[in-house]
Amino acid sequence: MRGLGEMRWLRRDGEPRIEYGADYNPEQWPRDVWKDDVDAMRAAGVTIVSLGIFSWAHLEPASGEYDFGWLDEIMDLLHENGILVDLATATASPPPWLTSAHPEILPVDRDGRTLWPGGRQHWRPTSPVFRAYALRLVRALATRYRDHPALTAWHVNNELGCHNAHDYSDDAAAAFREWLRDRYGTVEALNHAWGTAFWSQRYTAWDQILPPRLAAAQSNPTQQLDFKRFSSDALREHLRAERRILRELTPDVPVTTNFMVAGEINEMNYADWVDEVDFVANDHYVRPGPQSRDELSFSANLTGNLARGRPWFLMEHSTSAVNWQPVNLPKRPGEMARDALTHVAHGADAVCFFQWRQSRAGAEKYHSAMLPHAGRDSAIFRSVTELGARLAALGSIAGLPRTPARAAIIVDWESWWAAEQDSHPSSRLRYRQEALDWYTAFLDRGVRADVIPVWSDLTGYDLMVAPILHMVPSALRDRLTAYAEGGGNLVTTYFSGIVDENDHVWLGGYPGALRELLGIRVEEFEPRLDDTLWAERVHLTDPATEVLFPEVTRRPVGDGSAAYVSARLGPEGLAPVLAELLARAGVEPELPPGLCGKVELTVRGGVRFYINRTDSPLVVDGTDLPGRGVLVVE
Ligand code: GLA
Repeated sequence: MRGLGEMRWLRRDGEPRIEYGADYNPEQWPRDVWKDDVDAMRAAGVTIVSLGIFSWAHLEPASGEYDFGWLDEIMDLLHENGILVDLATATASPPPWLTSAHPEILPVDRDGRTLWPGGRQHWRPTSPVFRAYALRLVRALATRYRDHPALTAWHVNNELGCHNAHDYSDDAAAAFREWLRDRYGTVEALNHAWGTAFWSQRYTAWDQILPPRLAAAQSNPTQQLDFKRFSSDALREHLRAERRILRELTPDVPVTTNFMVAGEINEMNYADWVDEVDFVANDHYVRPGPQSRDELSFSANLTGNLARGRPWFLMEHSTSAVNWQPVNLPKRPGEMARDALTHVAHGADAVCFFQWRQSRAGAEKYHSAMLPHAGRDSAIFRSVTELGARLAALGSIAGLPRTPARAAIIVDWESWWAAEQDSHPSSRLRYRQEALDWYTAFLDRGVRADVIPVWSDLTGYDLMVAPILHMVPSALRDRLTAYAEGGGNLVTTYFSGIVDENDHVWLGGYPGALRELLGIRVEEFEPRLDDTLWAERVHLTDPATEVLFPEVTRRPVGDGSAAYVSARLGPEGLAPVLAELLARAGVEPELPPGLCGKVELTVRGGVRFYINRTDSPLVVDGTDLPGRGVLVVE
């Protein structure tokens, strides 16, 4: 990020405000609808739209022939109505003329099947042919709109990697080899890193190396891991390539792309991407389940910390149901506003939806929008308008950071990838779920916790949970040790500290790299078929190591401590454990006892957000708070 500080730079004028809007796809509608769109946007308090995301076929109807007339018209109309434009580079979905002429840009899955056109995002991240066509379009768009007064930000592609993150094509194979050459220098070094002495996998030349395509038995684990790293880097390279052109032509217009920090999506290592964008943008959709609300908060919390505490943009979420789950539940009254305000509580300076007007045709016609099929006379549009007014009244918070918590949870994409690979003691282990269980346990306790990427500064946190920190290279072990010695209280869990950066096991007993720090030793994993998931016989190797609970040990270290939880306890099982660990770290709940667990408290710029996690009314600070409501106290 270029350190742009506050989001108000987006408008080059005026007071701070929370931007409000949606993806806008006017090409799906006849022109006479556009005027009505903009009127309704004004009524709803919309201040910004993302435009042109899937417009390639309309903008370039034939190779090298552009039709910008309609986009000129809509950009002007939006500008006349005071609505900002986050203009997409339109490269997300290649048009049929391109895929017919160049079927070699189509991705190939692990089984060797081509992903054909007819959906979207059917392009290989490493295809030089696709790249050339995409960059030509980016240049044409940036040249055309560089001075347009509505142009506020650039939106590179869309959700990079949403459908094409892992491509196993020949282009990918060639690029993978280049990436490996850069990483290892020699085939010998690669052989060592990949442990190719196993199963007769020793390579003697670069061109023998392939992506981990469908194989007769489990693919080499380090090959799989490197392919995940490479695939994330390849998409990031596409982002960089588009950005280079945008920076050249419009150096003052900030560039972003929408991340997907949400649920189990983990193909892109966003901790490695944040410095490529001028401001972080995220998309989040709720999946039904007992922790769905907490999951939204977890993702928003992490996004704010990926953004290094700077304002960020909620680029997409939904007003109500989506269309891509097996059963798509509508949001209940209050949920839309609660979801939106939870993102704001965690530092978002923009609240946007997919999409403005619900489509009439196409795969997303049953996906909710700000303006539903029912039209303005609808509960959704009324809620949308109410939310617009509420956000307008919260303008003064824009640009202000959250107050850091005293506890934190570490998220590490490399450990996430490595811990969930195949050929492991259990295929039931879920990295993200373990982290979320801790987050829920914190919320149940009424204690705020920051969700932070592994590169974050750990000093300043009294309690640090590193769930399933599976991959611990020696530098990370040293950081965690220094944290505990310096007075921090580290907590880690089963299957942590097990491997180095090459996915090679640290020998001498588990938890490998963290064994000494934790003062314990484990000889064998004992995965379970019940909800506990995992068990271990833990030997204490330091007389100072205490047993706090049957599954929990704690060793005093310097001015701090290092605790270990050897089983999956789930939010309820973690409750007493966390209470004890917090008490020992001297971290108290910040909510009155009656509200602990019922309310999520977040503090941003001195403003307190009380988010009702329950469906029942509560009284907070003498004020009635409805079920699923949010109280903002300045
Ligand atoms: C993603 C995409 C949008 C839309 C939504 C639907 O976030 O970016 O174009 O398809 O999903 O939920």
